[in-house]
Amino acid sequence: MYQLNQVSKVFGGRTIAVDDLDLKVRRGEKLALIGPSGAGKTTLFRMLNLTIPPTSGTLLFDALNVSSLHGRRLREVRRRIGTVYQQHNLVPRLQVVHNVLSGRLGAWSIWRSVRSLIRPQEADLAYEALSQVGIPEKLYDRTETLSGGQQQRVAIARALVQNPEVILADEPVSSVDPALAAGIVKLLIELSETYRKTLIMNLHSVDLALAHFPRIIGLRDGKISFDLPAAEVTDEHLAVLYAGSQTEIGEEVPSLAELRPVRSCQPRLTT
Ligand SMILES: Nc1ncnc2c1ncn2[C@@H]1O[C@H](COP(=O)(O)OP(=O)(O)O)[C@@H](O)[C@H]1O
Ligand SMILES: [Mg+2]
Repeated sequence: MYQLNQVSKVFGGRTIAVDDLDLKVRRGEKLALIGPSGAGKTTLFRMLNLTIPPTSGTLLFDALNVSSLHGRRLREVRRRIGTVYQQHNLVPRLQVVHNVLSGRLGAWSIWRSVRSLIRPQEADLAYEALSQVGIPEKLYDRTETLSGGQQQRVAIARALVQNPEVILADEPVSSVDPALAAGIVKLLIELSETYRKTLIMNLHSVDLALAHFPRIIGLRDGKISFDLPAAEVTDEHLAVLYAGSQTEIGEEVPSLAELRPVRSCQPRLTT
Protein backbone atom coordinates (compact mmCIF):
# COMPACT_ATOMS: atom_id res chain seq x y z
CA MET A 1 0.00 0.00 0.00
CA TYR A 2 2.82 2.33 0.98
CA GLN A 3 6.51 2.25 0.37
CA LEU A 4 8.67 5.04 1.75
CA ASN A 5 12.32 5.22 0.83
CA GLN A 6 14.57 7.63 2.72
CA VAL A 7 11.70 10.02 3.27
CA SER A 8 12.50 13.25 5.14
CA LYS A 9 10.41 16.30 5.95
CA VAL A 10 12.20 19.48 6.94
CA PHE A 11 10.29 22.60 8.02
CA GLY A 12 11.71 26.05 7.54
CA GLY A 13 15.02 24.64 6.37
CA ARG A 14 16.03 23.43 9.83
CA THR A 15 13.36 21.48 11.76
CA ILE A 16 13.79 17.85 10.72
CA ALA A 17 10.36 16.43 11.57
CA VAL A 18 10.82 13.13 9.70
CA ASP A 19 14.34 11.92 9.17
CA ASP A 20 15.35 9.52 6.40
CA LEU A 21 12.51 7.08 7.00
CA ASP A 22 12.09 3.69 5.31
CA LEU A 23 8.71 2.06 5.73
CA LYS A 24 6.54 -0.53 4.00
CA VAL A 25 2.87 -1.03 4.78
CA ARG A 26 1.00 -3.90 3.14
CA ARG A 27 -2.60 -3.62 1.96
CA GLY A 28 -5.01 -4.48 4.75
CA GLU A 29 -2.40 -4.13 7.46
CA LYS A 30 -3.23 -2.52 10.81
CA LEU A 31 -0.50 -0.62 12.50
CA ALA A 32 -0.16 1.82 15.37
CA LEU A 33 2.39 4.59 15.54
CA ILE A 34 3.46 5.62 19.00
CA GLY A 35 6.10 7.99 20.31
CA PRO A 36 6.62 11.14 22.32
CA SER A 37 5.17 14.49 21.38
CA GLY A 38 7.16 16.09 18.58
CA ALA A 39 8.40 12.72 17.26
CA GLY A 40 7.03 13.49 13.79
CA LYS A 41 3.89 11.32 13.88
CA THR A 42 1.52 13.97 12.55
CA THR A 43 4.02 15.05 9.92
CA LEU A 44 4.34 11.45 8.74
CA PHE A 45 0.53 11.22 8.58
CA ARG A 46 0.27 14.36 6.53
CA MET A 47 2.71 12.85 4.05
CA LEU A 48 0.81 9.55 4.04
CA ASN A 49 -2.49 11.30 3.24
CA LEU A 50 -0.72 13.38 0.60
CA THR A 51 -1.44 16.73 2.26
CA ILE A 52 2.26 17.63 2.25
CA PRO A 53 5.05 16.24 0.06
CA PRO A 54 8.32 14.89 1.47
CA THR A 55 11.28 17.27 1.33
CA SER A 56 13.34 14.38 0.01
CA GLY A 57 13.02 10.66 -0.62
CA THR A 58 10.28 8.77 -2.43
CA LEU A 59 6.78 7.93 -1.31
CA LEU A 60 4.92 5.24 -3.24
CA PHE A 61 1.20 4.74 -2.71
CA ASP A 62 -0.04 1.53 -4.32
CA ALA A 63 3.15 1.58 -6.42
CA LEU A 64 2.41 5.12 -7.67
CA ASN A 65 5.13 7.66 -7.07
CA VAL A 66 2.96 10.37 -5.61
CA SER A 67 5.58 13.15 -5.74
CA SER A 68 5.08 13.28 -9.49
CA LEU A 69 1.30 13.73 -9.21
CA HIS A 70 -0.48 17.09 -9.40
CA GLY A 71 -3.95 18.54 -9.80
CA ARG A 72 -6.69 16.14 -10.72
CA ARG A 73 -4.53 13.00 -10.57
CA LEU A 74 -3.34 13.90 -7.07
CA ARG A 75 -6.93 14.51 -5.93
CA GLU A 76 -7.93 11.13 -7.32
CA VAL A 77 -5.28 9.39 -5.24
CA ARG A 78 -6.16 11.45 -2.13
CA ARG A 79 -9.73 10.24 -2.43
CA ARG A 80 -8.49 6.69 -1.81
CA ILE A 81 -7.23 7.73 1.63
CA GLY A 82 -9.59 8.66 4.47
CA THR A 83 -8.33 10.63 7.46
CA VAL A 84 -9.81 10.84 10.96
CA TYR A 85 -8.33 13.67 13.00
CA GLN A 86 -7.96 14.31 16.71
CA GLN A 87 -9.94 17.51 16.44
CA HIS A 88 -12.57 15.96 14.29
CA ASN A 89 -13.15 19.07 12.13
CA LEU A 90 -16.93 18.75 12.08
CA VAL A 91 -19.14 21.78 11.56
CA PRO A 92 -21.01 21.91 14.91
CA ARG A 93 -24.14 23.71 13.73
CA LEU A 94 -24.82 21.47 10.75
CA GLN A 95 -26.92 18.35 10.92
CA VAL A 96 -24.95 15.13 11.23
CA VAL A 97 -25.96 14.08 7.70
CA HIS A 98 -24.16 17.09 6.18
CA ASN A 99 -21.00 16.45 8.14
CA VAL A 100 -20.98 12.79 7.11
CA LEU A 101 -21.60 13.57 3.47
CA SER A 102 -18.81 16.13 3.38
CA GLY A 103 -16.65 13.00 3.10
CA ARG A 104 -18.06 12.68 -0.42
CA LEU A 105 -17.11 16.19 -1.49
CA GLY A 106 -14.03 14.99 -3.30
CA ALA A 107 -16.29 12.95 -5.55
CA TRP A 108 -18.90 15.68 -6.12
CA SER A 109 -19.17 18.68 -8.38
CA ILE A 110 -19.32 22.10 -6.70
CA TRP A 111 -22.96 22.40 -7.78
CA ARG A 112 -23.85 19.11 -6.19
CA SER A 113 -22.02 20.01 -2.96
CA VAL A 114 -23.89 23.30 -2.64
CA ARG A 115 -27.22 21.67 -3.46
CA SER A 116 -26.49 19.04 -0.84
CA LEU A 117 -26.56 21.69 1.89
CA ILE A 118 -30.21 22.29 1.09
CA ARG A 119 -31.31 18.74 0.41
CA PRO A 120 -28.79 16.06 1.39
CA GLN A 121 -27.70 13.99 -1.57
CA GLU A 122 -27.06 10.33 -0.88
CA ALA A 123 -28.62 10.53 2.60
CA ASP A 124 -28.99 6.74 2.47
CA LEU A 125 -25.22 6.48 2.19
CA ALA A 126 -24.83 8.65 5.30
CA TYR A 127 -27.40 6.53 7.10
CA GLU A 128 -25.49 3.38 6.22
CA ALA A 129 -22.18 4.85 7.41
CA LEU A 130 -23.80 6.00 10.66
CA SER A 131 -25.20 2.51 11.13
CA GLN A 132 -21.70 1.13 10.75
CA VAL A 133 -20.51 3.34 13.60
CA GLY A 134 -23.58 2.55 15.70
CA ILE A 135 -25.53 5.84 15.68
CA PRO A 136 -27.93 5.79 12.69
CA GLU A 137 -30.63 7.56 14.71
CA LYS A 138 -28.50 10.72 14.81
CA LEU A 139 -28.77 11.36 11.05
CA TYR A 140 -30.73 14.60 11.31
CA ASP A 141 -29.53 15.80 14.73
CA ARG A 142 -27.47 18.94 15.00
CA THR A 143 -23.88 17.81 15.36
CA GLU A 144 -23.17 20.03 18.38
CA THR A 145 -25.85 18.24 20.41
CA LEU A 146 -23.89 14.95 20.24
CA SER A 147 -21.41 13.80 22.89
CA GLY A 148 -17.67 13.86 22.19
CA GLY A 149 -17.61 10.12 21.50
CA GLN A 150 -20.60 10.35 19.17
CA GLN A 151 -18.98 13.22 17.29
CA GLN A 152 -15.87 11.12 16.82
CA ARG A 153 -18.12 8.39 15.37
CA VAL A 154 -19.55 10.97 12.97
CA ALA A 155 -15.98 11.78 11.91
CA ILE A 156 -15.37 8.07 11.29
CA ALA A 157 -18.62 7.81 9.32
CA ARG A 158 -17.45 10.75 7.23
CA ALA A 159 -14.26 8.85 6.40
CA LEU A 160 -16.32 5.73 5.57
CA VAL A 161 -18.64 7.35 3.01
CA GLN A 162 -15.52 8.19 1.07
CA ASN A 163 -14.99 4.40 0.84
CA PRO A 164 -11.21 4.76 1.12
CA GLU A 165 -8.69 1.96 0.80
CA VAL A 166 -6.68 3.36 3.68
CA ILE A 167 -7.89 4.88 6.93
CA LEU A 168 -5.40 7.14 8.67
CA ALA A 169 -6.33 8.18 12.18
CA ASP A 170 -4.19 10.79 13.91
CA GLU A 171 -4.81 10.45 17.64
CA PRO A 172 -8.52 9.87 17.05
CA VAL A 173 -9.30 9.38 20.72
CA SER A 174 -7.23 12.08 22.41
CA SER A 175 -10.21 14.38 22.80
CA VAL A 176 -12.70 11.79 24.05
CA ASP A 177 -13.28 10.24 27.44
CA PRO A 178 -10.76 7.40 28.16
CA ALA A 179 -13.66 5.01 28.68
CA LEU A 180 -14.90 5.73 25.15
CA ALA A 181 -11.42 5.70 23.63
CA ALA A 182 -11.10 1.91 23.63
CA GLY A 183 -14.54 1.59 22.01
CA ILE A 184 -13.58 3.93 19.19
CA VAL A 185 -10.25 2.20 18.58
CA LYS A 186 -12.02 -1.18 18.50
CA LEU A 187 -14.62 0.21 16.12
CA LEU A 188 -11.94 1.38 13.70
CA ILE A 189 -10.16 -1.98 13.90
CA GLU A 190 -13.40 -3.85 13.34
CA LEU A 191 -14.43 -1.68 10.40
CA SER A 192 -11.03 -2.04 8.79
CA GLU A 193 -11.22 -5.82 9.17
CA THR A 194 -14.78 -6.07 7.84
CA TYR A 195 -14.17 -3.83 4.85
CA ARG A 196 -10.53 -4.84 4.33
CA LYS A 197 -9.08 -1.37 4.78
CA THR A 198 -5.51 -0.60 5.64
CA LEU A 199 -5.52 1.15 9.02
CA ILE A 200 -2.72 3.32 10.35
CA MET A 201 -3.36 4.94 13.70
CA ASN A 202 -1.28 7.36 15.64
CA LEU A 203 -1.91 6.81 19.33
CA HIS A 204 -0.97 8.69 22.44
CA SER A 205 -1.91 5.71 24.54
CA VAL A 206 0.61 2.87 24.53
CA ASP A 207 -1.85 0.48 26.16
CA LEU A 208 -4.47 0.98 23.45
CA ALA A 209 -1.85 0.43 20.76
CA LEU A 210 -0.52 -2.79 22.31
CA ALA A 211 -3.99 -4.10 23.10
CA HIS A 212 -5.44 -3.72 19.62
CA PHE A 213 -2.77 -3.57 16.92
CA PRO A 214 -0.65 -6.40 15.58
CA ARG A 215 2.17 -4.10 14.44
CA ILE A 216 3.64 -1.25 16.46
CA ILE A 217 6.05 1.38 15.22
CA GLY A 218 7.82 3.60 17.73
CA LEU A 219 8.81 6.97 16.30
CA ARG A 220 11.28 9.26 17.99
CA ASP A 221 13.07 12.32 16.61
CA GLY A 222 11.63 11.59 13.17
CA LYS A 223 13.21 8.13 13.08
CA ILE A 224 11.89 4.62 13.62
CA SER A 225 12.96 3.51 17.07
CA PHE A 226 11.38 0.06 16.62
CA ASP A 227 8.98 -1.69 14.26
CA LEU A 228 7.70 -4.87 15.92
CA PRO A 229 4.77 -7.20 16.43
CA ALA A 230 2.93 -5.99 19.56
CA ALA A 231 3.88 -9.17 21.42
CA GLU A 232 7.59 -8.39 20.96
CA VAL A 233 7.50 -4.86 22.33
CA THR A 234 9.29 -4.83 25.68
CA ASP A 235 9.49 -2.37 28.57
CA GLU A 236 13.01 -1.67 27.36
CA HIS A 237 11.75 -0.59 23.91
CA LEU A 238 9.19 1.71 25.53
CA ALA A 239 11.73 3.16 27.95
CA VAL A 240 14.07 4.03 25.06
CA LEU A 241 11.18 5.45 23.02
CA TYR A 242 9.89 7.70 25.76
CA ALA A 243 13.17 8.50 27.54
CA GLY A 244 12.92 12.02 28.92
CA SER A 245 9.24 12.39 28.12
CA GLN A 246 5.82 11.29 29.31
CA THR A 247 3.11 9.35 27.49
CA GLU A 248 0.19 11.24 28.99
CA ILE A 249 0.31 14.46 30.93
CA GLY A 250 1.53 13.60 34.39
CA GLU A 251 1.61 9.88 33.66
CA GLU A 252 4.63 7.64 33.57
CA VAL A 253 5.13 5.07 30.82
CA PRO A 254 3.02 2.12 31.96
CA SER A 255 4.84 -1.17 32.40
CA LEU A 256 3.96 -4.09 30.18
CA ALA A 257 2.90 -6.11 33.20
CA GLU A 258 -0.03 -3.71 33.53
CA LEU A 259 -0.74 -3.71 29.82
CA ARG A 260 -0.55 -7.36 28.81
CA PRO A 261 -3.82 -8.53 30.38
CA VAL A 262 -5.87 -6.23 28.12
CA ARG A 263 -4.32 -7.63 24.96
CA SER A 264 -6.57 -10.65 24.76
CA CYS A 265 -9.89 -8.87 25.16
CA GLN A 266 -11.50 -7.94 21.87
CA PRO A 267 -15.22 -7.70 22.63
CA ARG A 268 -17.43 -7.03 19.64
CA LEU A 269 -19.09 -3.69 19.27
CA THR A 270 -22.71 -3.93 20.22
CA THR A 271 -24.04 -0.38 19.92
N1 LIG B 1 4.02 23.13 9.83
C1 LIG B 1 5.11 23.07 10.58
N2 LIG B 1 6.03 24.06 10.55
C2 LIG B 1 7.14 24.00 11.30
N3 LIG B 1 7.45 23.00 12.13
C3 LIG B 1 6.58 21.99 12.22
C4 LIG B 1 5.37 21.96 11.46
N4 LIG B 1 4.70 20.81 11.75
C5 LIG B 1 5.46 20.15 12.64
N5 LIG B 1 6.58 20.84 12.93
C6 LIG B 1 7.65 20.41 13.84
O1 LIG B 1 8.03 19.09 13.46
C7 LIG B 1 8.27 18.29 14.61
C8 LIG B 1 7.37 17.08 14.60
O2 LIG B 1 6.03 17.51 14.83
P1 LIG B 1 4.77 16.55 14.71
O3 LIG B 1 4.85 15.81 13.43
O4 LIG B 1 3.58 17.37 14.95
O5 LIG B 1 5.03 15.54 15.91
P2 LIG B 1 4.00 14.60 16.73
O6 LIG B 1 2.76 14.50 15.94
O7 LIG B 1 4.74 13.31 16.86
O8 LIG B 1 3.80 15.26 18.05
C9 LIG B 1 8.10 19.20 15.81
O9 LIG B 1 9.35 19.71 16.17
C10 LIG B 1 7.19 20.28 15.28
O10 LIG B 1 7.37 21.48 15.99
MG1 LIG C 1 0.76 14.88 16.46
